[in-house]
Amino acid sequence: MKVLNFGSLNVDYVYQVDHMVQPGETQASSGMEIFLGGKGFNQSVALAQAGAEVFHAGLIGSDGQAFLGACGEYGIHTEYIRTIEGRSGHTIIQVDKSGQNCILLYGGSNRALTKEFIDEVLQNFDAGDFLLLQNEVNLLDYIMDRAWERGMKIVLNPSPFDDGLKPCDFSKVYCFLLNEIEGMQLTGETDLKKIPDRILEKYPDAKVVLTLGGEGSVYADQNTTVRQDIFKVDVVDTTAAGDTFTGYFIAGLMEGRPVEEILRIAAKASAIAVSRKGASPSIPSREEVIKF
Ligand code: RIB
Repeated sequence: MKVLNFGSLNVDYVYQVDHMVQPGETQASSGMEIFLGGKGFNQSVALAQAGAEVFHAGLIGSDGQAFLGACGEYGIHTEYIRTIEGRSGHTIIQVDKSGQNCILLYGGSNRALTKEFIDEVLQNFDAGDFLLLQNEVNLLDYIMDRAWERGMKIVLNPSPFDDGLKPCDFSKVYCFLLNEIEGMQLTGETDLKKIPDRILEKYPDAKVVLTLGGEGSVYADQNTTVRQDIFKVDVVDTTAAGDTFTGYFIAGLMEGRPVEEILRIAAKASAIAVSRKGASPSIPSREEVIKF
């Protein structure tokens, strides 16, 4: 069993700020660093760090060649990453003194997927293989429909939650992984405790994993509900904490581990990630998670 992650690769320009810039304000930042990120890439790194065999599919510009070397270092398969004309995706990220972030996203090459490329990639995957998707690439609905026809298990992280998700048939989703804001946007439910049930009412066969920031996380399906607290650490930068959780959760699911254990490991991995700077470089290895 393998996992295909059809996802974004962004160069993150990260600025340390006193507070998030307000409308009309100019603020001098106290530091600036460049990291490899993108929800797609981060989640592939987390999957690989957790021990899964992961194939990343996506598009980069000539300015994104560093992703190929990084994938090689993490053991991520790169045969479905193509270079096209134009710029790679990038972000401008503000990180404030409390470690919270604010992200401006430019899609670039991430949004140039074609149906031909998607078909070419998917023909290499079969029933039972996992497909991981976030919402930073175009043609998400097409990828889901074709993967569903092949019998793949579709895991959706509907992030960022925007109109790109509207044409998607969520009844094809095997597992939703989302945070409380995305949960509210998906269901219209403002009582956070009720969000998993609202999702299961609409999509009864799905598995739901809802992350709740400082309140931990909850897993739910038709038969069971499992809760997990966070592991408290000094927060440096929350970027990619959710991606770390997602990658570790899916890796555990693929290994068939008990949900209690998967949630605990994913929570430990994301605690380590928030205690470090940057997106993909903050994602810990399995050994680090076990020692934590
Ligand atoms: O989830 C964090 C990621 O979101 C960053 O790496 C940035 O690229 C944005 O896509």
